[in-house]
Amino acid sequence: MPLRTLADPTHTPALDRSFVIDQLALGLGTDQSPPRILLLYGSLRERSFSRLCVEEAARLLQLFGAETRIFDPHDLPLPDQVAGDDHPAVHELRELSMWSEGHVWCSPERHGQITGVMKTQIDHLPLSMGGMRPTQGRTLAVMQVSAGSQSFNSVNTLRLLGRWMRMFTIPNQSSVAMAYKEFGEDDRMRASSYYDRIVDVMEELVRFTVLLRPHSGKLVDRYSERKERGVPIDPSMDHSAIAIVR
Ligand SMILES: Cc1cc2nc3c(=O)[nH]c(=O)nc-3n(C[C@H](O)[C@H](O)[C@H](O)COP(=O)(O)O)c2cc1C
Repeated sequence: MPLRTLADPTHTPALDRSFVIDQLALGLGTDQSPPRILLLYGSLRERSFSRLCVEEAARLLQLFGAETRIFDPHDLPLPDQVAGDDHPAVHELRELSMWSEGHVWCSPERHGQITGVMKTQIDHLPLSMGGMRPTQGRTLAVMQVSAGSQSFNSVNTLRLLGRWMRMFTIPNQSSVAMAYKEFGEDDRMRASSYYDRIVDVMEELVRFTVLLRPHSGKLVDRYSERKERGVPIDPSMDHSAIAIVR
């Protein structure tokens, strides 16, 4: 199954828990059930820092009350490599995205850009399939890792792709420069301002996801699509109550 499990989900040695707020999203919505977050990383390397970063992010999200799934891209074919995209890894990725209310995307920077592995995952998520919309209306947090000095090329591109996938990309972001210096031999991230930034981003993602969840369907309901469906609006209807398929 193309899912990665966390070895030690509750162990967060780089986090100073005395500054962590319980019930982060209190006051931001009546539905405080666990936000469902899908995390994607963009590398097949055995010791991948983009994977290790999303694993740190997933532990934090769980601590903040979210449910998380990390997709493992190892088995994913290239787009159109398999007829009709009929491949278990493609099905799983799409199902996970349908399940999710928010995403985290963390790409390495390669030649100043996101990796093909990252883009392949996004390319396998159609804007719409059979009336279902696997990404539209979801929140998104963008992250990158690199080996050089501080750079934002990959997060900028991920933001652009977030717009393309009709997602709500949160303002904060994480870019871990010289990522190879930030992890110990135990593969855990050391305490640093980079780690603290990941905490900030995950806090913000949880808050925005809870804030937007009652409205996400409505926020992607569009005049042009209603027109295309050819079903005119009944003026006597209460449009605040229209249920919209995401
Ligand atoms: C072909 C190639 C190109 C790279 N290009 C850049 C780059 O443009 N800027 C940079 O800072 N690091 C670059 N790197 C370093 C990677 O970003 C770094 O090794 C990162 O940790 C890879 O992600 P991963 O650990 O998740 O595999 C490059 C690495 C490779 C192999």
